[in-house]
Amino acid sequence: MSRLAAPDAAPDTAPSSAHPGASTAHPTAALEAALAAAIERYRARHPASAAQLERAAEVLPGGNTRSVLFQAPFPLTMVRGEACWLWDADGHRLLDGLGEFTAGLYGHSAAPIRAAIVAALEGGLSLSSHTLREVELAREIVRRFPAMPLLRFTNSGTEANLLALAAAVAHTGRRKVLVFEGAYHGGVLSFGGTGGSLKSPVNVPHEWLLAPYNDLSAAAAIVQREASGGDALAAILVEPMLGSGGCIPGTPEFLHGLRRLADESGALLVFDEVMTSRLSAGGRQALLGIAPDLTSLGKYFGGGLSFGAFGGRRDVMQRFDPRRPDALGHAGTFNNNVLTMAAGLAGLRELWTPAAAEALNRRGDGLRERCNALFKARGLALQFSGLGSLMNLHATDRALQRPADAAGSDGRVKDLLYFALLERGVFIARRGLVSLSLPFGDAEADLFSAALDDALATHHAVLPAAC
Ligand SMILES: Cc1ncc(COP(=O)(O)O)c(C=O)c1O
Repeated sequence: MSRLAAPDAAPDTAPSSAHPGASTAHPTAALEAALAAAIERYRARHPASAAQLERAAEVLPGGNTRSVLFQAPFPLTMVRGEACWLWDADGHRLLDGLGEFTAGLYGHSAAPIRAAIVAALEGGLSLSSHTLREVELAREIVRRFPAMPLLRFTNSGTEANLLALAAAVAHTGRRKVLVFEGAYHGGVLSFGGTGGSLKSPVNVPHEWLLAPYNDLSAAAAIVQREASGGDALAAILVEPMLGSGGCIPGTPEFLHGLRRLADESGALLVFDEVMTSRLSAGGRQALLGIAPDLTSLGKYFGGGLSFGAFGGRRDVMQRFDPRRPDALGHAGTFNNNVLTMAAGLAGLRELWTPAAAEALNRRGDGLRERCNALFKARGLALQFSGLGSLMNLHATDRALQRPADAAGSDGRVKDLLYFALLERGVFIARRGLVSLSLPFGDAEADLFSAALDDALATHHAVLPAAC
């Protein structure tokens, strides 16, 4: 099962219009031509996916119910998955380097997870009350995240962050929340866009303050300004590594500094570890030795099913104890749904052991270093940023402290490499995200880097040269 599917249509090697090495066109025009040719081949190779979008658009706006998945001219429709392989609607078999945007840690068909789901089904769905497994899953998480002695389940990472912020506001009696440019904390908690922005019209209306990522003095200035104005912050919400913002790690100094700022100001430090929790069995907080006041989790913890959780300091989380007269409410029909609880528990107990976490993140570090060595050897201004099993392609070789550092890089370069990898049987996110799953082994890492190297060789002349 580990052989890469051979490209089954005209590969992106031949046409002179798409191969500016043989062209005298201006590099930008040549890049444009190479991309246009790649998109033409994509259209030709994926008629079933194109038709499926048309059908979907009759009942879903733009044929889409999850914004991140849309791409022009049309997204691929996947019909099947097994281990770390996917099959699209036109029958192409693809190495899955995306891993469901980090939620697919266990791959598509892990036996212990299937068995746990089947066993849970035997006991019946929708039990209308407390169940046994939610306690076991919570215990397993608490054991790994000592800063979360109490937690509650939600259905998504978005909801986990919404509840963590609600808890911070209720606990402190304050309203303002410091967030960072380029951060993504969920569909209604998005601070991306050029240089970061508070402008998403669908964001929830907290009183947001925005600071540049990895800039401790800018954050300190905001925290101090608000405190001296008598309106101190309720929370500092931060991803220990910007995920959607391009896999840009927070420096230890920055993240430890935020811990100190929170201590000094009485704000709660909320680590959004929805993505970064997979960087070790106890998340990035364990690697850094930082105890946040609250943590939000999501993605793979549900074993591949809908999941979220928020938790942290006892004195904060105890407000959700329904035995208290002043208890905060937190409803959610599916918070403890038996399938998620069962799949999540099986994943943690049988697959995502501390040793497995270490091995996968080591594999990711190795793959990223290997890809970056390929870029260097070919004299290209490209890089994969990231940590462990998470990485993101950037069309620049500048050091990245925040998303603005990649501003000005040509997005068409990443587009071209996305299509080029796809033609070579490798699936990643169009924006360049790569996230390894447990079944993605050394053989798959070899296939990945071979496909990348071939794509670089083919398109070398239109890719940005290192200075
Ligand atoms: C860091 C981070 N927080 C929160 C979320 C939202 O999680 P969900 O998509 O489960 O709502 C995401 C999703 O990508 C994320 O990357």
